[in-house]
Parts: sequence; C-alpha cells; structure tokens
Amino acid sequence: MTAPPAWWKDAVVYQVYVRSFADSDGDGIGDLAGLSDRLGHLKTLGVDGLWLNPCYPSPQVDHGYDVADYTDIEPAYGTLASFDALLAQAHDLGLKLLLDLVPNHCSSKHPWFQAALAAEPGSPARDRFLFRDGRGPGGDEPPNNWPSVFGGPAWTRVTEPDGSPGQWYLHLFDAQQPDFNWRNPDVGDLFESILRFWFDRGIDGFRIDVAHGLVKHPALPDMGLDKALSHSPMWNHPDVHDVYRRWRLIANSYAGRDLTLVGEIWVPEVEDLALYLRPDELPQAFYFDLLTQPWRATALRTAIESGIKHIAEVGAVVTWTLSNHDVHRTVTRYGQDQSIVVGSSQDPAAGTRARGPVDLAQGKSYARSAILMLLALPGSVYLYQGEELGLPEVMDLPLTARQDPIVFRSGGRDLGRDGCRVPLPWEHDAPSFGFSPADEPDGPATPWLPQPQWFADYSVDLELTDASSFLSLYRRALQLRREHFAAPAAPLEWIELPGRDDALAFRRGERVCFVNCGAEPFDLPSEWGTVILASAQVSGHTGRTASPASTVWLTTTPTT
Ligand code: GLC
Ligand code: MG
Repeated sequence: MTAPPAWWKDAVVYQVYVRSFADSDGDGIGDLAGLSDRLGHLKTLGVDGLWLNPCYPSPQVDHGYDVADYTDIEPAYGTLASFDALLAQAHDLGLKLLLDLVPNHCSSKHPWFQAALAAEPGSPARDRFLFRDGRGPGGDEPPNNWPSVFGGPAWTRVTEPDGSPGQWYLHLFDAQQPDFNWRNPDVGDLFESILRFWFDRGIDGFRIDVAHGLVKHPALPDMGLDKALSHSPMWNHPDVHDVYRRWRLIANSYAGRDLTLVGEIWVPEVEDLALYLRPDELPQAFYFDLLTQPWRATALRTAIESGIKHIAEVGAVVTWTLSNHDVHRTVTRYGQDQSIVVGSSQDPAAGTRARGPVDLAQGKSYARSAILMLLALPGSVYLYQGEELGLPEVMDLPLTARQDPIVFRSGGRDLGRDGCRVPLPWEHDAPSFGFSPADEPDGPATPWLPQPQWFADYSVDLELTDASSFLSLYRRALQLRREHFAAPAAPLEWIELPGRDDALAFRRGERVCFVNCGAEPFDLPSEWGTVILASAQVSGHTGRTASPASTVWLTTTPTT
C-alpha cells in the first residue's frame, strides 16, 4: 500500500501574526492564550493549519525576527506551558501548527552576540558572526558596500571592550539583527538542536525566514550594483543548500510525522527557487512571483505557468500565497493602479508597498477574485490573517505610531509594514473591536498599533452574519475546495479564450476556474458545467454571465 500524500502538499495554512491576533490579558498585545480563545475562528474558517510568526523571547525590534532565545516563549505572549496548551488544542481540532525559524540572524541581545562583543577580534566567539575590520584610514569605512534590506549600510561598527573604535559586524537587516556565520559549525549545531527541540515538542513544521540568505560568499566581496539580486554575493550562495539537506534528514527522521519546512526565498529566477525544492532539500517554499504580479490576466498566467513548470521539474508542488506580514494587503494592492511596474530593489517586497490612491471597490473585486483563483490551483496555499475579512491596509498610520524598523532606516521613504499588522477587529461595537478584553479594571486596553474607526465594518461578528462578506466567501470557498480542488485532484490544463486576453481559464479534471480580470462580462460556455461558486454575481438572461472582475468555479460532475 502506498502512503497517503503528505498533508502539507495541498494544505491551506493560515498565518497568525500573534501580536495582532487576539489579546487575552489586556496589555494591548496579542498572545498565545488569546489565540487559543479564538482558535475556533480558524476551525470554522476551514483551514488545515496555522503558522505563527516568531514568538520567542525577543527585544521586539523587528517584532520577533530578532530572537534572543530560540527555545522559549516571549513573556508578553505566554510561556512554554501556554504554548503546549495551544499546540494540544490545535491538534485536538485537527489543525497543524508551524513555527517560524529565524536562522540568518539573531537579536543583538542573544547571549552569543553579547559574548562576541565582549571577546577579542579573531576570537571563536566573534567567529560565530561576521566581524571584519573596516576599510580606509583607521578602519572607518564599512568592510564592503552591502546595503541593509531595511535601508542604510549592512555593517555597524562596535566599540571594543577597551573603549577603542573596533571591528564591524554584518547585518542584512536591522543593526540589532547580527547575521550568523554559517561557515562556523557551531551555528549549524545550534540550529539542529533548535529544530529537534520544537519537533520533539510536537510541532508540524517550520517556516524558514530568509532561507536564501544564510550562507554568504566566503570573501564578502563588494556587490556589483548592476547585477541581479540572485547573483549578488549576499544571497542565494550555492553552499546554503547543504544546510537544507541536513535539515531534511532531521525532519524525515521523525517517521510518520510528515514534518514540513517552508522556505521564505525571494530569488528573481524560479529556476533558482526550484533548486531549494529538490527531493532532499526543503519540502516547500513560497512562490512569490505570483504575489508580485499586477492583476492582469497575461501576467498572472505567465507566473502560474512558470511556477508549476519549474517546480514540477524537481518533483515538488507549488506553495501559493498573495499576502503576508511584509506586504500591503491584497485589497489595497489590487485597488491601486495596476500598470505601475514594480521596480527592482534591494528589498523585493518593497514594490508591494506602493503609495498612491486606492480604489477600494476595485481592490475588493480583485481580491475576492484572487482568492478563488488561488484556491483552485494545484498545491498548497498560505493566507495571512485579516485577509479573510477583506481588510484594507491602514495606509495613514501616523509616523509616531509606526514601529517597523524599515520606516526609520529608510528615512520614511518606505511606508513599512505596520499597516497590515494592525490588531484584528472581532466585534464591531466593543472597545478595541474585541481585540483585548473589555472588562479591564483600569479601562479598555490600548492596542499596540491604533485601529482606525472603519475597522468596525470589517469585524468578524458582522461578516459572519453577512452572506456577501469576504468571510462568507472564504468559508464557502475553503469548504468547496476540499471537495473539488484538493489533492489528488487533476493537474492544471489551460483553456484558451480567443479574443479575451483580459481573462484566463484553467481546467482541473472536471472542474474549471475562470478568472475575468477585465471590465467586460463573459458568457460561460455550457460545456464547463454548472457553477459551484463565484466571487461576484453570475447573471444574464441565461444565468451564465460572469461579471467583470470576478472568478467563477464550475464543474461538469453533478453536485448534490
Ligand atoms: C523576513 C520576515 C520579515 C523580517 C525579515 C528579517 O523577510 O518575513 O518580517 O523582517 O525576514 O528577519
Ligand atoms: Mg496580551
């Protein structure tokens, strides 16, 4: 008998930004007990699992992506005991749980970095990070020209223990996120023990933060500023693949668990992405090429085709996503001018955080259409919290409220990522829209990022009772996806639509997914069968006219 396919191959996973999901103790900060209390929302939504953004002890400079201790829980979020309780509860509900592993860098408060600062240049403690002497007179210039993803240089100079100006250390992100030296075996050993610590506790996998960044070019040479990112000495070094070969062996050693590792890999070429998905490396990696496309049929089709082709060539399945905690929300992105070409940049996600006017009606139509398209594709899907409510990005957070280091390091040029991290609205008429408990002795809690008044209209309680809401569409779609599009469903075949290059259609066995990106209605051919679900009304005198800016699912199998 052959084993059933691994659960993650066609799973829908919901990304929980713990800090902003639900607050149980009234400090205005989401926590694990708050998530436990609201886990029913994910169960009724119909997802297969959840991925938690980092919830380890952290100074929270980059909200958990600056880890001070990899084997404990951030006190503001709970304890190992509250984590165990959450995990048990998730498993009781049949939900898988993934954590977020941050192996490229730690917090400057991590004991290893503190020890490195206290040690001599050239010492073993310093060799766990990337310390180098500066260039120029007095070593006053950074060792090379690498920029930080968050803006400014990727190097910061330290003061040596004797008070003299000292060496520089590398940080691809914030200065308080020093990069590990992955060519030092201590680092690999540390992370293997971290993987085992959490796998032994019972989690179902990890999302791997900046998985293409761990191993740098050994000489740390200047980058040619004209070269594509994938060829820069900062990213995607071939030696990084050895790390994932070792990790895959560890994951596989937990027989019968189907543990997954999902890479966050922003490389411009899908061929390079596919290399990480070879059978002895990562089971999964996000396919970001679709996320960065405008809502244009030709662009979407090209991205889907290329992802499926190259990822299938290494025997893997595509992990689709249109949203996460680093990019503007889909309603906002798709409500902007879709002809804006996303320029190349040191931070490939920066183009998804454009400013400019937003047509909310357009954004909502496209975002509803987009989720139905995504859920009909072969592979797994990751959804970011709040997308199921159709929440727009909060674009007008005052600078004083913003917390993302990108805002400060870019001198305010980049709006940063706070606008998709505003605490969720659960109840339209409660203080903090039900994010924190209402009955605190000192009055209502203040959420860590301010919620705009209009969040009330997107609250879970209202959307649950409104058949036309985003939440109703998501729930219906997730339920029907299991029946119609989940594995072992048929592979994708394109259906040509002569004269309609503003629309696309594909078949999966007896099912058809039709996506109308254009402004003209479309008459659905009778051979596509009956309508299963549509993101906007299907009307017309024959009752088979798809609206402009809508997606329709159909089937030729008689449905009950
Ligand atoms: C990843 C995370 C992002 C974080 C960065 C540095 O891109 O998704 O939120 O700031 O890595 O850890
Ligand atoms: Mg709290």
